[in-house]
Amino acid sequence: MIDDELDLLVLGSGVAGLSAAVRAAGTHQMRVGVLTKGELPQATTRWAQGGVAAVLGGDPDSTDLHLADTLAAGAGLCDAEAVRVLVDEGPARVNELIALGAMFDRDGAGELELAREGGHTLPRIVHAGGSATGAEVERALVAAVQRTAAAIHEHAFALELIVEAGRCRGVTALFADGTVHSVRAANVLVTTGGAGQLYAVTTNPVEATGDGIAMALRAGVAVADIEFVQFHPTALSVETMPRPLLTEALRGHGALLRDTTGERFVDELQPRDVVSRAETWRMQELGADHVFLDATGLEDFDQRFPNIARDLRSVGLDPSKDWLPVAPAAHYTCGGIVTDLRGSSSLPGLWAAGEACCSGVHGANRLASNSLLEGMVFGPRAVEAIEDGVSGPSATGAMRTVLGMDPDRPDVVPSGVIGGRFVRLSTRSTEQPSADPPVDGVSTGEVRRGLQRALTDNAGVLRDADRLGVAAKAVDDVLALPVGSSVADHEVRNLATVGRATVEAAARRRESRGAHTRDDFPETDPAFLHRIVFV
Ligand code: SIN
Repeated sequence: MIDDELDLLVLGSGVAGLSAAVRAAGTHQMRVGVLTKGELPQATTRWAQGGVAAVLGGDPDSTDLHLADTLAAGAGLCDAEAVRVLVDEGPARVNELIALGAMFDRDGAGELELAREGGHTLPRIVHAGGSATGAEVERALVAAVQRTAAAIHEHAFALELIVEAGRCRGVTALFADGTVHSVRAANVLVTTGGAGQLYAVTTNPVEATGDGIAMALRAGVAVADIEFVQFHPTALSVETMPRPLLTEALRGHGALLRDTTGERFVDELQPRDVVSRAETWRMQELGADHVFLDATGLEDFDQRFPNIARDLRSVGLDPSKDWLPVAPAAHYTCGGIVTDLRGSSSLPGLWAAGEACCSGVHGANRLASNSLLEGMVFGPRAVEAIEDGVSGPSATGAMRTVLGMDPDRPDVVPSGVIGGRFVRLSTRSTEQPSADPPVDGVSTGEVRRGLQRALTDNAGVLRDADRLGVAAKAVDDVLALPVGSSVADHEVRNLATVGRATVEAAARRRESRGAHTRDDFPETDPAFLHRIVFV
């Protein structure tokens, strides 16, 4: 239990949260608490493969080119000012991580090896352990935060924001012994990641249930771009969940995509929304449930991608001989809690960074390997803003959309559209949390699987009004259920909350843009060149 008020409470323990905690507790000696629902190293960060995009090499690369690639992938919805911050500050943050002990791959001369991925015009991705970059980043940050005085609370699940006099003052949280307590803090930073578990087929671990975004939606904090769910084009098509990822860097290295007749059908180095769409169309045409990644031409596969080679062999695939069956899988939540350039949400005292936020750097589709980068840039920026005494949002970055907006515009959705249906959570202490209790005769696990199936079938890579209507009904049915008291129950409710916003925004966006494709509105429509914001 945490009795005294903290300067900063960090929710989540991935790259954004731990970069912030290290900066706050180490550099600035703030009183910091880190609350995480699993164990400290268990964040989605550890699953990231490809790497960190940052301009660390010299000519011909430049931050201007990185900016241009990011804007192009984002399909018109990036905030250029936020992207400028990302690409300019990224290299320094990577160097700080190296100084903290992160070991990135180097060539024989000791220089950082740079890989290329889809949407990047040049090789600029630093990586670790071949394609185990997230694991190395997480390892280095966990070690660094443990060297500070930050108080770490594992198996503590944040339930709701505490809002007093128009300011966030902490959260209520469910602790491992089943009791619920208030954790009070002058500032709360949400870094709880995305909601890939909304889908039955995903690269995300079971913990990715959109908890922070859901809390924000319930509290009426601005959330935007939530319809843009990025599907990774090369998840290995096996029954395992989460789906094993075959990093984008394989295509950057020369691997090819072929349909089930062996024909190539897309430029492999296009941004991943383009590639996932092309795969889905080709699979539909051929009645197949996968395409193939052909990496047989890569001579140094085992040396360059040792962990992937090992995983493939464990399922009987030899990348030097076999084409690898792949299909798109839900991978990244491009939208989230709207933030300004310094990480402030629309609620004073509440900050957000990483996949849980919508800083404006991803727009309608995130550029490969910009995710770890966003966490390590914007997490510490929030800490610097707190240190500078900033107390609320400014009209910068994605927040520009929210402050001063006309509430009657069709792209502004009152949170009550979703929130009005919520059953308010009881914060009473519970002595015996049930692991998977039956709700109306159906177990929480079954409810979750049903929700995932409904979203996969009706709000996936390809969408239309009818299918989105089916998805909305499925989510509403879940939201109408009474909420149980276990972590599993709260996770399902959070998934349904984010799912409802995703479906609502997807239905309102009657165009195709970036990661959002409507079969019934196939063109990109300049009338939708704006964010859809829940407030
Ligand atoms: C990958 O290695 O393909 C995933 C990296 C990312 O999501 O940017």
